Amino acid sequence: MRSWVIVSDFRRRTALVTGASSGIGAALAEALAARGADLVLTAPDEERLVLVADRLRALHGVAVETIAVDLAYEDSPDRLAEKVLAAGHEIDILVNCAGFGTRGRYDELAAERDHHEVMVNVVAVERLAHLFLPAMVERGRGTVINVSSTSGFQAVPYMAVYGASKAFVLSFSIALWAEYRSRGIRVLALCPGPTDTNFFDALGSRMNAGGRLRTTDEVVTSAFRALDNGQPYVIDGRLNYLTSNASRLLGRGLVAGITARVLGANGRG
Ligand SMILES: NC(=O)c1ccc[n+]([C@@H]2O[C@H](COP(=O)([O-])OP(=O)(O)OC[C@H]3O[C@@H](n4cnc5c(N)ncnc54)[C@H](OP(=O)(O)O)[C@@H]3O)[C@@H](O)[C@H]2O)c1
Repeated sequence: MRSWVIVSDFRRRTALVTGASSGIGAALAEALAARGADLVLTAPDEERLVLVADRLRALHGVAVETIAVDLAYEDSPDRLAEKVLAAGHEIDILVNCAGFGTRGRYDELAAERDHHEVMVNVVAVERLAHLFLPAMVERGRGTVINVSSTSGFQAVPYMAVYGASKAFVLSFSIALWAEYRSRGIRVLALCPGPTDTNFFDALGSRMNAGGRLRTTDEVVTSAFRALDNGQPYVIDGRLNYLTSNASRLLGRGLVAGITARVLGANGRG
């Protein structure tokens, strides 16, 4: 039984969720289904997507469609949008959750993997907003949830591209929140800290996950509470809130230096 409380009503609304095949994206999709939203779910792995879709249809009786797309390529967001529109969907809620991290000394990381990381974590988020936000503005209502991270609040040595990508998402989302809140559109940057998902398997390291991992239910609870409160961003968890503000209190250089020692000492790559 899920622990989050249902406040907003998304009946007769359709949500497009990227990164919906597992982890936080699948949990956000489930929370939206519980609030009555029909879903368009996307991720590269079709099989995993279909499992999530079948489950949510059975549990919540909402319409769920899957579109398998790898967002690492330049034309992927446009191809996704074409398929969504061709299927006759009007997207009221856009959830940009697809993402992954790379870890290691920058000069030793595979350049192509880092490039794909920027394409998925940054370029796709921005492009999908361009593709779906104008129609929300026209309708005078809509919701955008962009998944950033506590890593977005500081430079992250040995995960330099990841931290920078999430800083983009945080800044971009807060700016859109301020631009569109008077037009009936809610924009939220969701900033989880270490959370129990497949993220660390994809990263190839569990080193970052010291302490208790947060659950996807906790992250979803934070997200919907913040959305209902009209917040521009939310950091999930009190400890994550404190550590995210360390850069502000101690200075960016000092925090980056401490992080370099911790992540550098934790083994490279
Ligand atoms: N877990 C954490 O500690 C944590 C903390 C802060 C922020 N986040 C962020 O939360 C978001 C979701 O991650 P998660 O923790 O739920 O990890 P996850 O379980 O690994 O989920 C990642 C999702 O992104 C999708 N994805 C990966 N590469 C993709 C690509 N090239 N194109 C399209 N979709 C792709 C995956 O699809 P496939 O299943 O098909 O690969 C999966 O659905 C990410 O943006 C991540 O940066 C996670």
